[in-house]
Amino acid sequence: MSTTFTIDTSTSRAHPTPAPMKRLTVPALRQRKINGQTAEPIVMLTAYTARMAQLLDPHCDVLLVGDSLGQVIYGLPSTIPVTLDMMCNHGAAVVRGSYHSLVIVDMPFGSYEASPAQAFENAARILRESGAAGVKLEGGEAMAETIEFLSARGIPVCAHVGLTPQAVNALGGYGARGRSQAEAEKILRDAKAVEQAGCFMLVIEGVMEDIANEVTASTSCPTIGIGASANCDGQVLVIDDMLGMFERVPRFVKRYGNAADTISTAVAQYAADVRSRAFPTTDQVYRPKK
Ligand code: KIV
Repeated sequence: MSTTFTIDTSTSRAHPTPAPMKRLTVPALRQRKINGQTAEPIVMLTAYTARMAQLLDPHCDVLLVGDSLGQVIYGLPSTIPVTLDMMCNHGAAVVRGSYHSLVIVDMPFGSYEASPAQAFENAARILRESGAAGVKLEGGEAMAETIEFLSARGIPVCAHVGLTPQAVNALGGYGARGRSQAEAEKILRDAKAVEQAGCFMLVIEGVMEDIANEVTASTSCPTIGIGASANCDGQVLVIDDMLGMFERVPRFVKRYGNAADTISTAVAQYAADVRSRAFPTTDQVYRPKK
């Protein structure tokens, strides 16, 4: 029997029917990869709002409150200006809107790179204020000490290597990584370092397919690909990209809908109805009860 959700509009909680589901935990997710194999690939999408979380939750294992919300929600040019307040608030909305998925929240640029202590303070704030189960941060070897520090203190960390969008200024753009031997070796070293530091999951973004395959085969924690490889232990996409909200479709995105067209068509019809006084009709106005 499929699960249906009743939305409590006063709390934004989605109540599952028939039975309450248990939220997926970090150890349970980590154990989906056994002896280097993940029998059932991990389904992950970004979510930024309670209502979207309600819709995605029954289908996903992990909801990522990505700092891509900078561009997707706030219309910013990159993830660089995203703040901790934004991540805490959207993280809390997604936790309220979900029951079953593991929710993890991106640490924004500048909130974790200075020292392990800075990272702990800000990651603890994210978990405290959002109710999420873990954080994601970008970087490989340079972040290993921080990942070890957080993991040892009860903060599960998902690492993110390859194309790391917060480093756009250093990388010079969003092009795929690992085309040269030196870059490929660096990505492999980064993946090894974050795994050894104790990350529970590893996002591999925008890398040559064979590198993603090698990292997945040699890493004990699950890998999640985005523009990486079908052999990763799971996949993630930005929800607005896969729903077709934007005209530009990055090469690694498969569109599963055309939400922008659906919205434009509906709004054009509404505007025409308002202008022609076809809306509201008697169905949508209040009249005294007879
Ligand atoms: O911010 C984000 O949305 C991400 C991914 C899509 C991996 O980091």
